[in-house]
Amino acid sequence: MRIEDASLLARLSALGVEVRPGVSLSEHTSLGIGGTTDLLLVRRYDSIPEVMRLLKSAGFKSRFLGGGTNVLVDDGELSWVALHLPTVTPGVTVEGNSVWADASADLGGMVTYCAKRDLGGMEGLIGVPGSVGGALRMNAGAYGTQIGSYVREVEVYRSATGEIETLRGDDIRFDYRHTSFGPDDVMLRVRLELPSKPFKEIIAGIKVCNEKRRSSQPLNQKSAGCIFKNPPGASAGRMIDELGLKGHRSGDAMVSDRHANFFVNTGSASCADMLKLIEDVRERVRQAYGVELENEVIVWRN
Ligand code: EPU
Repeated sequence: MRIEDASLLARLSALGVEVRPGVSLSEHTSLGIGGTTDLLLVRRYDSIPEVMRLLKSAGFKSRFLGGGTNVLVDDGELSWVALHLPTVTPGVTVEGNSVWADASADLGGMVTYCAKRDLGGMEGLIGVPGSVGGALRMNAGAYGTQIGSYVREVEVYRSATGEIETLRGDDIRFDYRHTSFGPDDVMLRVRLELPSKPFKEIIAGIKVCNEKRRSSQPLNQKSAGCIFKNPPGASAGRMIDELGLKGHRSGDAMVSDRHANFFVNTGSASCADMLKLIEDVRERVRQAYGVELENEVIVWRN
């Protein structure tokens, strides 16, 4: 989708928005998959309500792209524009045990920044790729840690009201890879409360998690992490593996031969290839185990 109206472009520019025309989102997703659209870099959080009003009244649909690490974007010319909050490193400030982090901050970078200030608890999250905002929206977790446990406040643009609101952590539900945020809410900033822990101890914990991850996950291949959520009491990866589906493919989309819940782009996989593989595996698991696997990856169709 292209914004060509000069007056709209001028108004966006006055709000500090940089419009990059015709960007391939394959360059902005960890799967290396995605079609083309205008990419709008929104540098000021406070301008978001006005930017959204402008786009809506001009008839543009839009989606916020965070780190692009848990999303499968459709192929071809996209029917919506992509918005992105650029990262300003580190995007984190610490006061006592309170940590304010921008949604655009890198999640791993935030964990390390806090570790250096003797604030721990999030060691398990160190290798989870993506932004703080993305982690927050889906309550990312690994090795027994979920980001939601530490959340005290969230600043969020609420699509329902068109305003920026501050929500108390207690008023947000954080479940397994799911939160009570609306699908179009945009995470802006979060305040976490982290336990004090000596840096050395945190680093030791981080090392253990990194080793586990390196030994079981295809970290050097293009993926979106786990494709399916784990069903209650079971492991999607183990089930897919037991069905002998490692290496199973659709075009260049392939079930990783290292971890069967990671689907990797081995070359120039399209969204259609990946979706076909997802449906094929879901169907085989349904037939073999009577279990309906639910996507963890977020699919953005046209
Ligand atoms: N397993 C297999 N074959 C495989 C993969 C796994 O037999 O191909 C077995 C493992 O040997 C293990 C069990 O299945 O006995 C569980 O595997 P693993 O420890 O890798 O955990 P997982 O349930 O597959 C979850 C998260 C990961 C997270 C790890 C570590 C989900 C969907 N996945 O994976 O998160 O890193 O635990 O905490 O909850 C993600 O969400 O994208 C993600 C990668």
